[in-house]
Amino acid sequence: MSKSRICLSVIETTLRANLSRIDEYRHMIDLVELRADYLSRGELTHLWRFPKKAGVPVILTLRKKKDGGMFTGEESGRIGLMKHALEGGFSYIDLEEDCTGSGLEEITVAGGGRVIRSLHDFSGVPDDLAQRMKRLARAEKELPKAAVMPLDTDDVLKLFSCYRELDGMEKILVGMGNYGFPTRILAPYLDTYLTFCSVPERLAASGHIDPSTLTSLYRFREVNRDTILYGIIGNPVMHTFSPIIHNRGFKAIGLNALYIPFQTDSIPSFIKLAHLLSIKGFSVTIPHKEGIIGFLAEKDVSVDATGACNTVVREGDGFYGVNTDTIGFLEPLKRAVAGSSLKGKKTTVIGAGGAAKSVVYSLIGEGAEVLIVNRTGERAQKLADAFDCGWASLDTGGIERIKSYSDIIVQTTSVGMEPDPSASPIPDYVFGGNEIVYDIVYNPPETTLLKAARKAGCRIIRGKEMLLGQAFAQFRLFTGREYPDQEGIRKEFQ
Ligand code: ATR
Repeated sequence: MSKSRICLSVIETTLRANLSRIDEYRHMIDLVELRADYLSRGELTHLWRFPKKAGVPVILTLRKKKDGGMFTGEESGRIGLMKHALEGGFSYIDLEEDCTGSGLEEITVAGGGRVIRSLHDFSGVPDDLAQRMKRLARAEKELPKAAVMPLDTDDVLKLFSCYRELDGMEKILVGMGNYGFPTRILAPYLDTYLTFCSVPERLAASGHIDPSTLTSLYRFREVNRDTILYGIIGNPVMHTFSPIIHNRGFKAIGLNALYIPFQTDSIPSFIKLAHLLSIKGFSVTIPHKEGIIGFLAEKDVSVDATGACNTVVREGDGFYGVNTDTIGFLEPLKRAVAGSSLKGKKTTVIGAGGAAKSVVYSLIGEGAEVLIVNRTGERAQKLADAFDCGWASLDTGGIERIKSYSDIIVQTTSVGMEPDPSASPIPDYVFGGNEIVYDIVYNPPETTLLKAARKAGCRIIRGKEMLLGQAFAQFRLFTGREYPDQEGIRKEFQ
């Protein structure tokens, strides 16, 4: 297995600005792709100067609009510019599969460089991708490259199967976009020649990340064929904090494992992918927490009781599901009541959706007395009937009732979440100061509801506490180990 390289794609409009970008990241990268199609016209005649100044191997790419680039001039002009540039001795030139007979190949090779023969597909993953990759190189030393855009989980599965089929062949194979993201961070695992990344301020392509995130969070230099894969499925999923939590934990305990966001639109297709990649465990987030249950060989009582599953671990050939949202919710609450029990605590739960169900189940299990208050009264009643507790609508009468269930107030709706952080589900409620107020929303870190409660002197629990709590419980299930340095990550997430 050969080494996989980190290639920084630079897309500034001047050569000088591109050189500064390289200087910023020089210590993290192996080579650079100069996207000459982004340069302003006047710069193009100076291209030949670039490789020497860059001081790292450079790929020359002058991509046409049709192939996803910015170059709009005549093909003869493009070839002329590249020929001139090659006088500077580029280490690689990227030539599309239909760019032949120009003499660029011979000039590149004569100058000690190598041709990357590329194909692009922004409309999905072609069924015959592996066959096309095998036929792509025009000469022995040419390096075949495909950049394709998976549009759903089926495409992702097709792409990973293609890596399997092409195993052992020297190649660059990249999945673009959010669905393709795992292929970028798994380049060393997938044995592909390089992965492209870009500076955070100027992402050169959909799904790119910056070299720093790639090397620190996703430990690119340590990933290899033996790396154990974990992940999270959801849609959307790219915004979640879970990769930060788990990857940091794996690193701290010295485990050769990686936790990857898999944007997923189809659970059955992901299950096939999980088998193909021998994924050892994965987190499940919206909208798949209910749908995943049908694919579990075994499940914990927390899944049956809440009708939701957020954690899946491999057991032999099947998958075992747990809902750690329940433990994650309780952990910070138990710390807040330090020493005393939740038994008999008069507790209001605002909301009656999926999240509320996990919360109510956890509270009832601890012996709390629960009142469910929800915008839609019938939904509150239905949930209350299932757990034999009180309910009210989120109206003046309901808010009045909260006063007699106010040892603990838990907010489980999406109200107050970005992009509308000024909202509160109970804007007129006057806190007495003795309540423990817990909002499971974690973005923003302190909601409007929590701010009001804190001002009144209440103890508050932020949503990130629950996020961390459920992740720590997942980590135990994934690795059999306690999450290391819990205080450290708690501070970072404040
Ligand atoms: P989740 O799984 O995140 O709980 P859900 O099952 O869709 O999502 O439930 C959303 C909860 O937020 C519900 O309790 C919903 O109230 P309704 O049952 O009346 O729909 C509540 N919710 C959402 N938007 C709300 C709003 N603007 N004001 C009050 N409650 C709201």
